[in-house]
Amino acid sequence: MGHQKIYNGIKVTVAADYEEMSMLAAGILLDKACAQPGMTLLVPTGTTPLGTYKIIRERNPDAFKSVTFFNMDEYCVDADQETTLIPDTHPAGYRYYMKKNLFDRLTPKASYFPGMENMKNPGHYDDFIRRTGGIDFCLNAMGEDGHTFGFNMPGTPFHSRTRLVDLGDRVRDVNRRLTGLATPTHAVTIGLLTGMESKEILFLVSGKRKADILYRTVRAPRPETDIPATILKNHANCQWIIDRDAESKLREHDI
Ligand code: GLP
Repeated sequence: MGHQKIYNGIKVTVAADYEEMSMLAAGILLDKACAQPGMTLLVPTGTTPLGTYKIIRERNPDAFKSVTFFNMDEYCVDADQETTLIPDTHPAGYRYYMKKNLFDRLTPKASYFPGMENMKNPGHYDDFIRRTGGIDFCLNAMGEDGHTFGFNMPGTPFHSRTRLVDLGDRVRDVNRRLTGLATPTHAVTIGLLTGMESKEILFLVSGKRKADILYRTVRAPRPETDIPATILKNHANCQWIIDRDAESKLREHDI
């Protein structure tokens, strides 16, 4: 399934559509979990991984019972003059998202999210990850503006670690459009360096709405902070799986 292409020196697997991309990604994750049952897994939210989560929870949720999950980000809200994580029962939140889309059927060994302690003490989550032995495998995606590993927006330094971020209007508008829910103004997110320290990465890009940013990411001669996802070119073990819609501009220009 899928065929291999090389664009600007990057090997990519091109899936026919979102379903095939999700099937390929789920197959890779299931194989990893079976080969290394105690692995640590860093995961995103959003619409990109939904198909992958659906397949693994239907096909073999038990394969993940010894896996430790780390999520990339969670929204923050202001309550009683204090900034806190969005309640875990809030439908816009990512703890709610993970429960609804994966953990209702799959009980992992443990699951963690970055918390508010990273506001005063940036990198607290990174220290915790490091104490568990680091991330063995990371499933990753990107936004329409090239943000990646959670909410590392354009301009984020490559050495960034887990911290509180202001989301800005563009990503909030996109997420409101995708979910139909108001998007908070802030989030706690891992940094670009946090994600890049994963031993292995699977990077998924799907849909026409990502064709332009994927083209710009691949075409960039070297990683640049304006397009955070370009940092993935520096990773020694990152596999790219895209679907034909996301590939469309690359195909057109054949770089
Ligand atoms: C979540 C992620 C964001 C991403 C958004 C949309 O909110 N934390 O980083 O921008 O989903 O992602 P997708 O394009 O996969 O739907």
